[in-house]
Amino acid sequence: MNDSFRAAVERSAEIDARIATHPEEFRMMTGDRPTGTLHIGHYFGSIANRLRLQEYGAETWVLVADYQVITDREVGDDIAGSVRNLLTDYLAAGIDPSRSTIFTHSAVPALNQLLLPFLSLVSVAELQRNPTVKDEAASAGIKSINGLMLTYPVHQAADILFCKGNLVPVGKDQLPHIEQTRVVARRFNERYGATFPEPDALLSESTNVLGLDGTKMSKSRGNAIELRMTADETAKVIKKAKTDSDRQITYDPVGRPEVSNLLTVVATCEGTTPEQVAEEIGDGGGGGLKARVTEAVNTYFAPLRQRRREIEGDPAYVESVLRQGNERANEVAEATLDEVRTRMGMVYA
Ligand code: TRP
Repeated sequence: MNDSFRAAVERSAEIDARIATHPEEFRMMTGDRPTGTLHIGHYFGSIANRLRLQEYGAETWVLVADYQVITDREVGDDIAGSVRNLLTDYLAAGIDPSRSTIFTHSAVPALNQLLLPFLSLVSVAELQRNPTVKDEAASAGIKSINGLMLTYPVHQAADILFCKGNLVPVGKDQLPHIEQTRVVARRFNERYGATFPEPDALLSESTNVLGLDGTKMSKSRGNAIELRMTADETAKVIKKAKTDSDRQITYDPVGRPEVSNLLTVVATCEGTTPEQVAEEIGDGGGGGLKARVTEAVNTYFAPLRQRRREIEGDPAYVESVLRQGNERANEVAEATLDEVRTRMGMVYA
C-alpha cells in the first residue's frame, strides 16, 4: 500500500462515519460506463454503497457515462440498448429518481464544455502517467491511445465538478481519476478564485466479489451473475463455476480462492460469514456449495428481479426518468458554466 492509497483509505473511513450523522454535507456523484448489464459484482461493490448514501439522505447524482464508452472500443454495439439496460438495473436496484438525479453525458452540453478550461490546467505528461488509463489500454490491447482516452480523466473531473460533487464512491482503480479531479479543482481555484470543492473518494467496503472462475467478474469473460438473469439462468452459470476436488468445504482465500469467493457470495447475500457458510456445507463438496450459492443468490435478488421485469415492461417510465434527470443536470451544469465564465472574465455581452 503506498502512502497516497493509505491516506485515501483513512480519509474514506472518516467520511463514512460522518455521512451517517451529517448527510447534508455531502453531494455524492458517481457513474458507470454503459457497456451492458450490471452483475452482482457491481451490485455489492458499488450500487449497495450508493443505496446506503441515498438512504442517509445525501444528495446523489448518477451518471450514465456514455462518452467514456468510446474511449477504447468501437460503439458498434447497441449503445442505446446498453443505456436502457443500465437505467433499468439502477431503478430495479432501488436508485430512486425522486432522490437521485440520473443522467447521460451526451445530453448535457454545459458539462462537456467544462472540459476546455480544465484541459488547459493539465499537462500532457501528467495525462500520460495516469496508471488506470495505461492499464485499460494494455488490457484492451490498444497500442495507439486516442485523444479522448488520454483526456477522459479530465472529462471525468468535469463529471464530478459540474455539480460540485464532493464525494465519489468508487473502487480503488478510480483513485487516479479522483486525484486528477482534485488537481483540476485546486488549479482552477488558484487561478480564477474559489469555485470548486476538492472531492474525496469513498472506497467501497472490502466486499470484493470475483467471477465464477476466480478472476475479475465481467460479462465479457462469461463468469458473471447478471442482475437480469432468471433463476434458471443463474443456476446454469453457477453450475459452471470453478471449484476443486476437496469435498470438505473450507474458507481459505489464499489456498482455495474460487471456493472462498463462492462462500463470500453466499455470506454477502445471507448477511453471515464465509466461515459459517463453509461449516454448514461441511463435506457437501463443490456440488453442495454451488447449490447453496444458487439458492442464496436467487433468494436475495428475487425482489430486485421482479421489479426489473416490471420496469422493463414500462419503457416510457424509464425514458421519463432519464428525461427528468437530464433536465436537472442541464440546469445545474449551465449555472456552473456561467459561474466559470464569470470567474474567467469571459462574459462579454
Ligand atoms: N470511470 C468510471 C468507470 O469506469 C465511470 C465514471 C465516469 C465515473 N464518470 C464518473 C465514476 C464520475 C465516478 C464519477 O467505472
